[in-house]
Amino acid sequence: MTKFDPFAEFRMTGHSAIVTGGAQNIGEAIARSFAGAGAKVLIADLNGEKAAETAKKIAGETDAEVLGIGCDVTKKADIDACIAEAVGKFGGVSTLVNNVGWGRAYDDPLAVSAEDMIESYKLNTISAMQMTAACRPHLLKAKNPTITNSGSLVGVQPAFDFIAYSAAKAALNHLMLTRMRASTRRCRKL
Ligand SMILES: NC(=O)c1ccc[n+]([C@@H]2O[C@H](COP(=O)([O-])OP(=O)(O)OC[C@H]3O[C@@H](n4cnc5c(N)ncnc54)[C@H](O)[C@@H]3O)[C@@H](O)[C@H]2O)c1
Repeated sequence: MTKFDPFAEFRMTGHSAIVTGGAQNIGEAIARSFAGAGAKVLIADLNGEKAAETAKKIAGETDAEVLGIGCDVTKKADIDACIAEAVGKFGGVSTLVNNVGWGRAYDDPLAVSAEDMIESYKLNTISAMQMTAACRPHLLKAKNPTITNSGSLVGVQPAFDFIAYSAAKAALNHLMLTRMRASTRRCRKL
């Protein structure tokens, strides 16, 4: 008789995950949880050295296959190289976590430059869109694929002094919801 396993739904054996910005903090915790649950994890971070160190540490703690590479998620060539690494080393991508994000505070929200607004949008919103689009062919081949974006409360309730970050995180929410609706209506054609 098969024994009841209360954690069966949480196990990620057979999954291969990419966690962006996983060299530290929230991304590192996500990478550790996935590796602990049995997934192979690729940490893709601007700081390649730290990504490799974190990956080594997590691999030692979990016995999972964890790799860390340098990747700037605002650069298409880096995104493609990151996915090629995951596919080459793990055989595919079944789990994508768009975790990279950052925002700075401004004293005067009306004085924020157009350049700063665009930079925030590139980092917090467009990077997730491009990562997702580039991973799509691999996610569609995977069993139980998932995409997770690291959002923020300021994307729902804007913070006065974090105007560029708030607007970009709100856009990320819209992006996610639009994609969800589109994928249920025009499933797999996106
Ligand atoms: N920390 C919080 O309190 C908090 C609250 C709400 C939402 N969030 C969101 O959670 C996510 C993670 O937050 P955190 O505090 O762990 O971030 P963090 O700043 O501690 O770590 C972010 C990681 O992303 C990497 N990174 C930065 N730019 C990159 C780029 N262009 N390409 C690849 N990697 C890049 C950094 O090197 C770093 O390792 C972010 O999206 C953030 O907006 C954080």
